[in-house]
Amino acid sequence: MSQPTIESILQENRLFPPPSDFAENAMIGSMEKYKEIYDKAKADPEGFWAELAESELDWFEKWDRVLDWQPPHAKWFVNGKINISYNCLDRHLTTWRKNKAALIWEGEPGDSRTLTYAQLHREVCQMANVFKQLGVKKGDIVGIYMPMIPEAAIAMLACARIGAPHSVIFGGFSAEALRTRLVDAEAKLVVTADGGFRKDKTIPLKAAVDEALQDNHAPSVENVLVVQRTQEKVQMEPGRDHWWHDLQAGASADCPAEPMDSEDMLFILYTSGTTGKPKGVVHTTGGYNLYTHVTSKWTFDLKDTDVYWCTADVGWITGHSYIVYGPLSNGATSLMYEGVPRPANPGCLWDVVEKYGVTIFYTAPTAIRAFIKLGEHLPKARDLSSLRLLGTVGEPINPEAWMWYHKVIGGERCPIIDTWWQTETGGFMLTPLPGATPTKPGSATLPFPGIITEVVDLEGKPVKANSGGYLVVKHPWPSMMRTVYGDDDRFRRTYWEHISPQGDQHFYFAGDGARQDSDGYFWVMGRVDDVMNVSGHRLGTMEVESALVSHPAVAEAAVVGRPDEVKGEDVYAFITLEGEYDASEALENDLKQHVVKEIGAIARPAAIQFTDSLPKTRSGKIMRRLLRNLAAGQEVAGDTSTLEDRSVLDKLRSGA
Ligand code: WTA
Repeated sequence: MSQPTIESILQENRLFPPPSDFAENAMIGSMEKYKEIYDKAKADPEGFWAELAESELDWFEKWDRVLDWQPPHAKWFVNGKINISYNCLDRHLTTWRKNKAALIWEGEPGDSRTLTYAQLHREVCQMANVFKQLGVKKGDIVGIYMPMIPEAAIAMLACARIGAPHSVIFGGFSAEALRTRLVDAEAKLVVTADGGFRKDKTIPLKAAVDEALQDNHAPSVENVLVVQRTQEKVQMEPGRDHWWHDLQAGASADCPAEPMDSEDMLFILYTSGTTGKPKGVVHTTGGYNLYTHVTSKWTFDLKDTDVYWCTADVGWITGHSYIVYGPLSNGATSLMYEGVPRPANPGCLWDVVEKYGVTIFYTAPTAIRAFIKLGEHLPKARDLSSLRLLGTVGEPINPEAWMWYHKVIGGERCPIIDTWWQTETGGFMLTPLPGATPTKPGSATLPFPGIITEVVDLEGKPVKANSGGYLVVKHPWPSMMRTVYGDDDRFRRTYWEHISPQGDQHFYFAGDGARQDSDGYFWVMGRVDDVMNVSGHRLGTMEVESALVSHPAVAEAAVVGRPDEVKGEDVYAFITLEGEYDASEALENDLKQHVVKEIGAIARPAAIQFTDSLPKTRSGKIMRRLLRNLAAGQEVAGDTSTLEDRSVLDKLRSGA
């Protein structure tokens, strides 16, 4: 099994129309209906979004302008006043949903908890008051570094409630990665836990926070709030560190949601790009609330009877938009799971489906490929008949994995939604609507209503059907990122300057290559920049290179993604050493560990190849294309005439 190649997907012509019983009960139950909505949105995007903003969300004050577009900056629902925590919680309390399960949580060691909307509201209000008591004011940034426990969602919603933007940092990131993110955002408060459970180990989160803050290296941080999860002993610094449960006990549950300007920042989420430094993607309130709400509602075809489970971590955008905000804004039941398949219980995910009668299951292709490896006896031994809809996200799905998902997990009765989107887009951009869109294994199909996508060349001209090109979005949408935190110039350069369309058009360039087939379906081919996709996680090659060169032994490093059966790609590093160091297995391990320390285990190189020199052009640029071929064990393809020293290639091939 491997990543889809142009050849494999060009031959992919199986078509799966929505099952008729699904379509009959779906919100959008036919292609005619999709087209009608799509065309209406295309003809008048502002009118389309305004109508939905009015009917789907509660506003404290209405906007006076739907869209203010000064490329590349968009403002949506200008001067509207809204609070996403209100839309996710308070408004459900006046309906029968008050005592409906908002979050169902299953812990790794087998503990579990269900929070109804009323209970979740109460805890969010208490924490919002705790944050205030710790000096957090509207506009102050709060770092959240948590395991997958309900408190992570509670902390996010509490931030949103008082207008303190959150910056969630994935709990798998190292102390060093945490520190750079806290410093960049000048976070005032950090919310964490003593630790988290991961497979059969615990992850010492609080210790990592201590290390990040050590010697006043993140001087903006005034307080640390710690959830007791693993019960392991942690150091608590008096005056700075506080236990969550202690402060919660004394906190009032009365905390009205702060009316926020529609364009007030809701959160920052750091993501990898083509330079060494991760960028803080900024999302704002009103547009993000609307877009995640509507995409959740239509794409998951959410019903009040659904038990919806997205397996992502809240540390990524998928967790933000489709565990917390989108589903809760709809009053849905969202399931959170702390565990992952582990040798002691490789079928644990299917146990969770069976235990709670999960109806919608949303995961990543890398997880599906891992399930295939674990064997179909595991899902077959559980009752998965509650499932009615499956989804995937994070990387292109290879048609074999799609077919396995369809047959073994979906019992051939569940539509599959392959959703293409990004941290930057806030919500789904290309996706089937499950009651309407006939699906093709490996294609994210068609744009969501209101989204105008195209595959173009560098001049912004559409390429012919079935030819490869750059995937762009041609019209602003409500949940688009607003800027890179603290670096608007980088925002312009990264997303808006690669493609130069004629006239005064401005195309958002996602960084992905794609093609459109003769039915207009989009096939996303993967990144065309120096971003790797390792187990569905984004990692910049430069980010890993800067981690490597910060080790004293390393003179130069070049990192590429190497195709991997399960992970999609893994990290492969070519390294030249400083004169006084010799290549050895011990040094190789030391360098791998160094990357784990600088970034986190997700970035650990799978392989390191020591070499005397790297292939470069005459102007000194490393030729990654050649290295990618070498890492994959392929013949070096394409033009090598710009290579400065051709003998380098032979040496690398022979492993020298
Ligand atoms: C890739 C994750 C193909 C893509 C939501 C994108 C996909 C990057 C798909 C964003 C998909 C995500 N098909 N590729 N369905 N979904 N990608 O920011 O390369 O972590 O640019 O957001 O993942 O990753 P991010």
